[in-house]
Amino acid sequence: MSKEFKRTLITSALPYANGPVHIGHLAGVYVPADIYARYLRLKGEEVLFIGGSDEHGVPIALKAKAEGITPQEVVDRYHFLIKKSFEELGITFDIYSRTTSEVHHKTASDFFRRLYDKGEFLEKTSEQYYDEEAKQFLADRYIVGTCPHCRNERAYGDQCEACGTSLSALDLINPRSAISGSVPVLKETKHWYLPLDKHEPWLKQWILEDHKEWKSNVYGQCKSWLDMGLQPRAVSRDLDWGVPVPVEGAEGKVLYVWFDAPIGYISNTIELLPDEWEKWWKDEETKLLHFIGKDNIVFHCIVFPSMLKADGTYILPENVPANEFLNLEGDKISTSRNWAVWLHEYLEDFPGKQDVLRYVLTANAPETKDNDFTWKDFQARNNNELVAVFGNFVNRALVLTQKYFDSKIPQRGELTEYDVQTLEEFSTVKKDLENYLDHYRFRDALKEAMNLARIGNKYLADTEPWKVAKTDMHRTATILNIALQITANLAIAFEPFLPFTSEKIKKLINKTDLKWSELGSVDLLESGHAINQPELLFEKIEDADIEKQIQKLQDAKKANELKEHKAEPIKENITFEDFTKLDIRVGKVLECTKVPKADKLLQFKLDDGHGGRTILSGIARYYKPEDLIGKNVCFIANLAPRKIKGIESQGMILSAESADGSISLIQPQGETTPGSRIS
Ligand code: MF3
Ligand code: ZN
Repeated sequence: MSKEFKRTLITSALPYANGPVHIGHLAGVYVPADIYARYLRLKGEEVLFIGGSDEHGVPIALKAKAEGITPQEVVDRYHFLIKKSFEELGITFDIYSRTTSEVHHKTASDFFRRLYDKGEFLEKTSEQYYDEEAKQFLADRYIVGTCPHCRNERAYGDQCEACGTSLSALDLINPRSAISGSVPVLKETKHWYLPLDKHEPWLKQWILEDHKEWKSNVYGQCKSWLDMGLQPRAVSRDLDWGVPVPVEGAEGKVLYVWFDAPIGYISNTIELLPDEWEKWWKDEETKLLHFIGKDNIVFHCIVFPSMLKADGTYILPENVPANEFLNLEGDKISTSRNWAVWLHEYLEDFPGKQDVLRYVLTANAPETKDNDFTWKDFQARNNNELVAVFGNFVNRALVLTQKYFDSKIPQRGELTEYDVQTLEEFSTVKKDLENYLDHYRFRDALKEAMNLARIGNKYLADTEPWKVAKTDMHRTATILNIALQITANLAIAFEPFLPFTSEKIKKLINKTDLKWSELGSVDLLESGHAINQPELLFEKIEDADIEKQIQKLQDAKKANELKEHKAEPIKENITFEDFTKLDIRVGKVLECTKVPKADKLLQFKLDDGHGGRTILSGIARYYKPEDLIGKNVCFIANLAPRKIKGIESQGMILSAESADGSISLIQPQGETTPGSRIS
């Protein structure tokens, strides 16, 4: 049962404007969405491609606070950077706007109000942590404390990253505010909830029964959410950055960012087409598609459709072709850890190579499972595929035509069996490409287009027109005519994927009016038609360029390791009495030896002013035992003795751990007698 549609509305996830976009965003969302939009336009269909920045939410508010600027300044910085870099990569949004726009604030606010007036929300009061110093409620992520499961002291209010357990802020032992460090208090607050449980029955029918054709990764995630049972979700937050909740008595509350952001798709359509937007959002003949990454599936398949349904006047998405994640050199891409290839930096480092990135990200797209981007693979795909096959073929065809036929398309004569076979091989390219594209299989589609270049390259390698030209100009003419027809086909086939290259080929063959519907034809170029001076389509990428990029990543990794080590949070206050319980003394090292079978441990014999004691310390990687003999160190004298590796350790020697993890002993300045008290 496939519906007939008149037009297609393509949305692509609105990236958070708290950082630039990286290759993970591109491979997962924007490159496939752009390929699809270009493809439909080439087929002459009515299509709208919506983009924009997601500019609300807690992380943006906190980033502003940390930098001492306003949230608006944060999003201004990234919105324009993102918009410009998308443009340069050839992402053909019909509009790229933002959720701080006036239109969006009004649209989102009205949307909420309509649902509120229809009684589509639950109102609930609950107790939430409040930071009395910062005077604000704390999102789960901004509360740290001790994990009740593994005792990690740096667990977050939503998750403990040491043991992986999902937490609620109320589970944390010794909670502290990540903003001020103060101990938060519980305070009552009222919020509005979307009762997803109420929507569950129709969602089950709509997704699990009526949309079995969705990609298995998307369908599977939806099914597991629906099987677990849906709960009401809060759609408001206590925060001063966002769209204010349009209800009396809701001062200091804004719409939850995941409530307002998808409405951004609607707002941006309204901004672009103030008089016509409704046909794109409310007419059953519009096919609505959301291009997103896998972390957005629940919001686009369950939450946003429930919002649309609650309103009652909107269409629902026909498909949500979500992708998995792209990793980078084996590690998860991370904005905060700077483990990424940033689009704006790529465009600077590799000018004019937009299509190389588009090619590699599509060829390696994480369509069905997570995938890995490596710079070596990037180089190999450029050098071995784009340069050696695609570029080489086109260049040969053009150069030989210039050389033997004065840059005019030669006449095709009688065909050999091999010619016929070659032409047949690509006669199905249009059908095959369309079949893949219609099913959002962009990798396979690109492979199909590339196969056309391979056919051409092989054809020239096998027929060797540069040799034939010595004896038979008629035959040479036929071979080059076929090669040039294939070249023209490449300009069409690659247009959705590598638009810059396609443009370039059209210029080189002096033919700009090629149509998608003509793909597969062997009569695209008339004999006698004059072509232009040949130019290379792609150039080799040298090792040095790749090494520079790898070095950049290694530097980021190092900087991160230093950063992640510094500034451990301060522990909770203790009383003066607590402090006086500790007995810290100076001791003189009498003996120091390595502990067998324990490569970190040193065994000390200290003169402690009381007849001596043994202490073990984990500093063997940083000190040679013989260097420490005769030195004064500091130690805790009243720590209960412990057995380590069968040896009783009677105290603890004090040392400092620095940012890179190295350890150095604390030693008193000047003369001290063994056993002196430290306070
Ligand atoms: N900003 C979100 C993210 O990067 C995506 C928002 S998509 C929208 O994960 F639907 F909310 F717009
Ligand atoms: Zn834990």
